[in-house]
Amino acid sequence: MNTDINGVSSVISGTLTSIVSNVATLVTTLVALFTMSWKLALIGMVVIPLLIIPSRVVGNTRFRLVTQSHAKQDEMNQIINETLSVSGSMLVKIFTREKKEYDNFVQKNEEVTKISLKEAQSGRWFRVVMGMFTQIGPLLIYLAGGYFLIKGNDPALTVGTITATVALINRLYRPVESLLNLGVDFTRSLALFTRIFDYLDRPITIKSPENGQTPDLHCRDIEYKNVEFYYSEDKPLLTDVSFTVPGGAAYAIVGPSGSGKSTVVNLIPRLYDTISGTVTIGGVNVRDIDLTWLRKGIGVVTQDTYLFNGTVLENLRYAKEDATMEEIEDACKKAAIHDFIMSQPKGYDTEVGNRGLKLSGGEKQRLSIARVILKDPEILILDEATSALDSISESAIQEALETMMKGRTSLVIAHRLSTILKADKILVVAGGVIAEQGTHEELLAMNGVYRDLYETQFRTVIDYETADSEEKKENDKAEGK
Ligand SMILES: Nc1ncnc2c1ncn2[C@@H]1O[C@H](COP(=O)(O)OP(=O)(O)OP(=O)(O)O)[C@@H](O)[C@H]1O
Ligand SMILES: [Mg+2]
Repeated sequence: MNTDINGVSSVISGTLTSIVSNVATLVTTLVALFTMSWKLALIGMVVIPLLIIPSRVVGNTRFRLVTQSHAKQDEMNQIINETLSVSGSMLVKIFTREKKEYDNFVQKNEEVTKISLKEAQSGRWFRVVMGMFTQIGPLLIYLAGGYFLIKGNDPALTVGTITATVALINRLYRPVESLLNLGVDFTRSLALFTRIFDYLDRPITIKSPENGQTPDLHCRDIEYKNVEFYYSEDKPLLTDVSFTVPGGAAYAIVGPSGSGKSTVVNLIPRLYDTISGTVTIGGVNVRDIDLTWLRKGIGVVTQDTYLFNGTVLENLRYAKEDATMEEIEDACKKAAIHDFIMSQPKGYDTEVGNRGLKLSGGEKQRLSIARVILKDPEILILDEATSALDSISESAIQEALETMMKGRTSLVIAHRLSTILKADKILVVAGGVIAEQGTHEELLAMNGVYRDLYETQFRTVIDYETADSEEKKENDKAEGK
């Protein structure tokens, strides 16, 4: 967008004055020419149409080339963005792809250079042709003027008139030339406008409804009714998801990787809209709720933690701009990150780096939990919020999360049995539907998806977590080991 806008700005800013002055010169010159001798004026003008045709051709060529060159520049920028981003550059190093990425960049760069050169050169022959025609004009006037003078049938025609006409005709060609060049520039910038409007004209699919409702979201039921959703039509993901989380309850969502757990919860703050079926909060369809109101009421700890380049404090204030220092410290204590922050030389003014690169995965996660505690939302969504934490920091935070979940409707996507066991009910997402739901014991008894997951995923984690705890002995006993 930036390059496209820069590309059109010069045309827009320089054009108006240029049009006005050129048209003024053109009109006054025409008046002067026609009062002196309309015949000679017409003869001088026969070359003008010959200039218009090539200017059209050049304009169209430039339109095509500039579209291509800017598309190529996009590709080049993307390579720069991806390979020089924090995670990207790490990946390049670890897979020793420096040479490949460099070559890739050089190749794209050469393509851009080639097209830009072609574009710059495409106007050259046009200028040659124009120069040639504008030399022909005076020749024609001398020829015709001389002929009329010799024949002597126009007494008003003198050598002086002929000389003056030739002098003036050059003043006519210059504005015509400038205006035609402007036409070419315009056609070229049209290509950029097309690109800009392609983007601006994209429909906003998820927008706030007019006169959106602002219902109380506190402790309301969240209900999914026959929800269907896919990212692309040929790959159905959720086919018929129905469940209700009663107000104030905390439900866990489990399921195989890629089954659509994150997708299910993203439908509540309307990061995506359902294809069919409804998601309602307290009986109100989320689509009828004012979008800002809805999102203000929902706190999400996402699966991959994102922090902005800035200080710890700035990142925390993202949740609540006017939070007092006490509130912030309180939230950080609850998220078990306060001590770490204080141990840093700059405390809350510690820079987190691009995407939070200067913090460990667990520290980032604890910060993002502190951020949600600070937001104090009505509805809480945790997408594997504690996945990057060791069991000691997890149990420290667990308490804070449990306090938060109390008196709030919550959905928790979890891989850890300890988290799952604390939920009021467990929903199992598999095969595009809620395949099973119930308590841990009920689900184990079903001998279905949940049991499989338990045996392959949760068990290994719990073995590690509670290596010599009572729980393990009980489990082993239950399994007859
Ligand atoms: N933005 C997207 N565009 C297209 N496909 C997507 C998008 N996000 C997710 N998917 C696909 O949808 C499916 C479900 O993704 P989702 O993130 O909901 O899974 P998940 O159950 O949360 O998995 P995990 O346990 O690994 O986090 C996956 O197959 C994924 O490839
Ligand atoms: Mg997920």
